[in-house]
Amino acid sequence: MTERSAKAGIGASITGWGKCMPPSVLSNHDLEQLVDTTDEWITTRTGIKERRISHVEVSDLAKVASLHALAAAGRAPGDLDLIILATCTGDSIIPSTAAVLQAKLQAWNAAAFDLNAACSGFIYSLVVATNMIKAGTHRTVLVVGAEKLHYHLDFTDRSTCVLFGDGAGAVLVEATDQPIGVLASEIGMDGSAAEILWTPRDGTAGDRDFPRPTECGIRMDGPEVFRRAVTTMGDASVRVIKAAGLELEDVDLLIPHQANVRIIDATARRLGLDPGKVFINIASYGNTSAATIPVALAEAVEEGRVQPGDDIVFAAFGAGLSWGAAVLRWGDRVEPVSVSEAALPPPDRTTMEMLQPNIDFFGQGAGQRP
Ligand SMILES: CC(C)(COP(=O)(O)OP(=O)(O)OC[C@H]1O[C@@H](n2cnc3c(N)ncnc32)[C@H](O)[C@@H]1OP(=O)(O)O)[C@@H](O)C(=O)NCCC(=O)NCCS
Repeated sequence: MTERSAKAGIGASITGWGKCMPPSVLSNHDLEQLVDTTDEWITTRTGIKERRISHVEVSDLAKVASLHALAAAGRAPGDLDLIILATCTGDSIIPSTAAVLQAKLQAWNAAAFDLNAACSGFIYSLVVATNMIKAGTHRTVLVVGAEKLHYHLDFTDRSTCVLFGDGAGAVLVEATDQPIGVLASEIGMDGSAAEILWTPRDGTAGDRDFPRPTECGIRMDGPEVFRRAVTTMGDASVRVIKAAGLELEDVDLLIPHQANVRIIDATARRLGLDPGKVFINIASYGNTSAATIPVALAEAVEEGRVQPGDDIVFAAFGAGLSWGAAVLRWGDRVEPVSVSEAALPPPDRTTMEMLQPNIDFFGQGAGQRP
């Protein structure tokens, strides 16, 4: 259901932004060594040139992105009263990765939970954070999208392994009496079509004594996902823009989920939006699921693409099948209050060495005991 949230009283604005992209690069040319593909095919069919491979865990990526977001807002971890971590590739089942992040940040005053809505996870989390602030139960909420998707990629399947990458983005959402923040939003799900994008047996539905490589990892009907993503993201965006009381020409920037540049272009065309108002960074990172939008937002602010008072539209689509869209009115500050020096430790392995466990596991084919 589309929700209009610009009520009088408490609002929830984004006051800090940050990202953490691991340094190891996997280029299209590197992938040519692993599967039957070409740089030309990947570039023209997806817009992706390279992606990042993480040597650390999701909680480590999330920690660095969070410290940048906190610094940009001029806040300390102790100021947080809630952490929402959007991820579908967490460090472990229990504890939640949000709990690990809370400890790594030493954010002892914060409740913390993971939210899994796959590629729509950041928008879901932003909506939850906004509504908890508006309900008056929380005031200073860290919303993070962080993923280590390469762990779940079958590097013998050319139709999926070229698409995804690792990374993290974070925003700080704070209570405000100004009419800014999320003006309208929509989150949705169609679980009946889950099997067009899934990891069939990576959970309790699997067989722990006999994991089958062809049943693990991300499996996808790409063309069907493509069709649904374009219509769903476009239509949800139109609905939230209308619910916010805006016209299409009022939109200053569209920050869509970065899954395929052709999906982004088709969505923008469906909205009738000037391509100059669409933020695209997929060439550098591929699809980092819940991380794409907060990473893109951090880069948009850093590049001067966000101005005070701008109306920004977020739209996403992903496994579930989930979707989300939101209109966010930016506040009056586009400069960080301060800058964090937080960074990851350098990798201790090459990119190919990091991929070797996947190559060994999935390379065994169906029905082979690893
Ligand atoms: C996956 C995707 C890039 C495939 O592009 P497409 O234009 O639909 O291509 P198709 O799947 O129709 O495949 C066309 C051909 O390219 C081949 N192909 C697929 N992946 C390839 C690759 N990496 N390199 C070379 N050829 C490839 C296919 O095998 C097929 O060959 P065939 O015609 O001989 O059978 C595209 O469907 C897509 O991006 N879908 C959405 C995926 C997505 O966003 N998922 C996450 C959502 S959050």
